[in-house]
Amino acid sequence: MEDAAPLLDAEAVADLVLLDPLTEESLLQTLQERFRRRDIYTYIGNVVISVNPYQSLPIYTPEKVQEYHECNFFAVKPHIYAIADDAYRSLRDRDRDQCILITGESGAGKTEASKLVMSYVAAVSSKGEEVNKVKEQLLQSNPVLEAFGNAKTARNDNSSRFGKYMDVEFDFKGEPLGGVISNYLLEKSRIIRHVKGERNFHIFYQLLAGGSAQLLQQLKLRQDCGHYGYLNQGTSSLPGMDDAANFHAMQDAMKVIGFSAAEVTALLEVTAVVLKLGNVQLSSSFQASGMEACSIAEPRELQEICELIGLDPGTLEQALCSRTVKARDETVLTTLTVPQGYYGRDALAKNIYSRLFDWLVNRINTSIQVKSGEQRKVMGVLDIYGFEIFQDNGFEQFIINYCNEKLQQIFILMTLKEEQEEYVREGIQWTPVEFFDNSIICNLIENSTSGILAMLDEECLRPGVVNEDTFLTKLNQLFATHKHYESKETQNARRVMDTSLPARCFRIHHYAGKVTYNVTGFIEKNNDLLFRDLSQAMWAARHALLRSLFPEGDPQKVSLKLPPTAGFQFKSSVAMLMKNLYSKNPNYIRCIKPNDTKSAMVFTPELVRAQVRYLGLLENVRVRRAGYAFRQLYGPFLQRYKMLSPRTWPRWAGSDREGAEVLLADLAYPEEELAFGHTKVFIRSPRTLFDLERRRQERVAQLVTLIQKMVRGWRCRTQYQLMRKSQILISAWFRGHAQKNRYKQMKRSALLLQAYARGWKARRRYRRYFRSSASTFLANFIYRRLVCRYLVGLAKNLPPLSVLDRTWPPAPYKFLGDANQELKSIFYRWKCKKYRDQLPPSRRAQLQAKLCASELFQDKKTLYSKSVQQPFRSDYLGLKQNPKYQKLHTVAKDKVVMADTVRKVNRASGKTVPRLLLLTTEHLVLADPKTAQPKTVLALGDIRSVSVTRFSDGFLVLHLKEVSTVGAKGDFLLVSDHLIELVTRLHQTLEATTGQALTLHITDKFSTRFPKGDVSVTVVESPKAGPDGPICKKKGSHKMEVLVH
Ligand SMILES: Nc1ncnc2c1ncn2[C@@H]1O[C@H](COP(=O)(O)OP(=O)(O)OP(=O)(O)O)[C@@H](O)[C@H]1O
Ligand SMILES: [Mg+2]
Repeated sequence: MEDAAPLLDAEAVADLVLLDPLTEESLLQTLQERFRRRDIYTYIGNVVISVNPYQSLPIYTPEKVQEYHECNFFAVKPHIYAIADDAYRSLRDRDRDQCILITGESGAGKTEASKLVMSYVAAVSSKGEEVNKVKEQLLQSNPVLEAFGNAKTARNDNSSRFGKYMDVEFDFKGEPLGGVISNYLLEKSRIIRHVKGERNFHIFYQLLAGGSAQLLQQLKLRQDCGHYGYLNQGTSSLPGMDDAANFHAMQDAMKVIGFSAAEVTALLEVTAVVLKLGNVQLSSSFQASGMEACSIAEPRELQEICELIGLDPGTLEQALCSRTVKARDETVLTTLTVPQGYYGRDALAKNIYSRLFDWLVNRINTSIQVKSGEQRKVMGVLDIYGFEIFQDNGFEQFIINYCNEKLQQIFILMTLKEEQEEYVREGIQWTPVEFFDNSIICNLIENSTSGILAMLDEECLRPGVVNEDTFLTKLNQLFATHKHYESKETQNARRVMDTSLPARCFRIHHYAGKVTYNVTGFIEKNNDLLFRDLSQAMWAARHALLRSLFPEGDPQKVSLKLPPTAGFQFKSSVAMLMKNLYSKNPNYIRCIKPNDTKSAMVFTPELVRAQVRYLGLLENVRVRRAGYAFRQLYGPFLQRYKMLSPRTWPRWAGSDREGAEVLLADLAYPEEELAFGHTKVFIRSPRTLFDLERRRQERVAQLVTLIQKMVRGWRCRTQYQLMRKSQILISAWFRGHAQKNRYKQMKRSALLLQAYARGWKARRRYRRYFRSSASTFLANFIYRRLVCRYLVGLAKNLPPLSVLDRTWPPAPYKFLGDANQELKSIFYRWKCKKYRDQLPPSRRAQLQAKLCASELFQDKKTLYSKSVQQPFRSDYLGLKQNPKYQKLHTVAKDKVVMADTVRKVNRASGKTVPRLLLLTTEHLVLADPKTAQPKTVLALGDIRSVSVTRFSDGFLVLHLKEVSTVGAKGDFLLVSDHLIELVTRLHQTLEATTGQALTLHITDKFSTRFPKGDVSVTVVESPKAGPDGPICKKKGSHKMEVLVH
């Protein structure tokens, strides 16, 4: 396998399993050589050993992340990323919950390693707005927790002073959903005291360095570390650590996690209260009874604290300087001495801070906890304090080392013991490997009846005088012969002289080394008691956050039951953690600290040797070498890999074990690589497993392609079949439709043909019954009928017989139009004739005269239109009746045509004189009106012509023939009131007697003959003429003007 190349380097093998020869020395040398080459990570199987380089190496870049993403574990250099990737993939693909246990002593790089794991998982898991938010929140929990939970120690500038276990939860796709953080035992004694050269928790320095002037003023703080009692015992600033920047980073992180501005302020206020409590100074005073009492030396600080938390200073002062003691049924207020007062003050500060830290973790948890109830997969990352051996070890070190002992126990159980037991159980040939089982030490500490912790609790609860001495005596008695327990007493009993073990101390032989614990403070720290007066005072504060930290201060909830001891609490939380870890697949990162001076790339073999020893790395390698890297039940194994052999794919009919054997036989792995247990198959080297996985992946890809191919084929086929079926259906319908149409067409045509044929036949059959002229006959008949109807209708509907009525009904048919018109005119003419026939002769003569007048004057003389209305009366004089005209009557001899009065124009003057005019059938007589004596008798034959004007006047000129009887007198100029009638009658009479028409001039200019020569007459229209008729004006001898109107 070419993948093995990076692993096989004799001097610096990447996997210590390949070490040859395997000794502590060679192991150490390999680690050193690799360290020199800046390969800080080394494997033992899938356990990663990380040696702290104390310098930043270019191996955490995004490119590196890509390189390790979905990599082959053994194909790349050992790295934390590789184990993180392996764990993540196993979680995502194999559905196995994972835990990553990071162990090592303080400063070995555990916290850094945990951050690397988290950031790697965040980088390779899928992206999306919601997922990124979750990832950010999970990652940002680090700066917040580090600010409040980390401090500079002698060993590590950023030492975690609490244990942390973080469960990151994923959905089935491997997307992070959220998480839960558990914290263990914060080193709260650091609040009040720290060794020279160390610092208090970072947050205090960060707040003072990074807080704005306004914030510090609000928190009533001074920007001076030296001012605060809890801080000024050591260095305030650290080289390479920018407190102000870290403060801002922490604030940003809080925002990302979801802290509200009010929450941040409240948190900082409580932090400030802790800091300021350290400055509350007490002074001693003596009471009247002579008892020593304490009081607040300088009230300002107390005042400010109370302002911050909304509490009456008196209440706090009383709680700090006195104590309520219940004795039987009485409660007595006793004063405290100054040391007691300081003890109370410090206990309060420690309690506030540690409870605040718990609150902080819970608050982060509420933000990052998974909301949905879907099934989750979990990856736990444990970063817990490493094994501690100090000069002076107290209760904390005891607890911490107990925890490490338990972790070692897990490691032993999971990797060494359980593994060996499993081989035996499965009947695999196996040479047992010697290893140290530390359960005896765990038992020494945690045994619930006789363990050190149980003893301590017993001592704490015991009535009477309680102190560490009695506790130590008890231990000495109980563990006098215990192999891992020592004290001055037990040594004395065994007559061992050991000056390194002082009195009031006991020593435990931990798996990692011997540690001497001083029992001083054990009872007090285990009890972890806070005077009730103080918790009640805190509860009385108006500051909501602070108040919520002290629920037991509620006087309503006073309970006499003592709270569980610190040791008991820690033991049970460790037990819970262990249970949690046992349920998951463990991955180990074992951190090693190469030197004590935090120097870059310095490797102190002795220091490392000690760690290699207590970490049990050599045993680890041995078991690993002897054992098998992988095991799985036959069933799941076959299920996972059955596609690798044609014999087991797709179904294996036999038992699971046979199936697994057949499958592995087909894959032809060397015999020593495999072992078949009773229920499980064992694979010796990880490489074989990785090869199996690789082949599986390839085969799965092929199968996926096959399935895709089949599904696509099936989809296309069904689609095609559907389309084909549809096409057939559509064409069937279409053809049917077309045929139906054609049939209908044919049927219509056939019917038409049939109808024609039948018609033709019928006509032929019935032809003889018809005459050839039937149609003409019929047409004529109809025609006649129509005409008849028309005529009969007409007869019934004749218009009135009045000649003035010209109406006529319209023709009912067009062909009768001409006839109708003809009938109309016939009818009209007939009507007129009938009218004419019934007229009397006189009327007829009158009408004839009127007709004649119209022929003469219509449209020629204006006077005519007026005359139409006037009847022609002929006799205007009453000739017969009036005896005055007797004479005239005789002259006329009953041949009078017309008798009237006219005016005669004097030829010389133009003036007019009245005359009687008589027109007979032979003569025209002018007579004197008075005497009725005829003055002029003119034979009609003498009248040559008559001239009249165009206007409505009665002026007329009678032109006489020159040879007439009265010719000498010249032409007569007359004015008649009945000019039209006169001229008409003259014309008629002339025509009747002479057979000649009258020559009539209707003109404006004419010539007349006067006795003295011709005179030209000009007719002029003028208003001067007036109603009396024309005025004649003589203009010279040959001109006359007639003014008419
Ligand atoms: N992989 C690394 N690369 C570079 N420096 C590292 C690495 N790991 C650790 N360090 C350095 O070592 C210091 C201590 O590491 P870290 O805080 O992780 O130790 P720890 O094991 O958590 O200690 P403690 O138990 O005190 O919390 C870091 O501040 C960092 O300077
Ligand atoms: Mg740490």
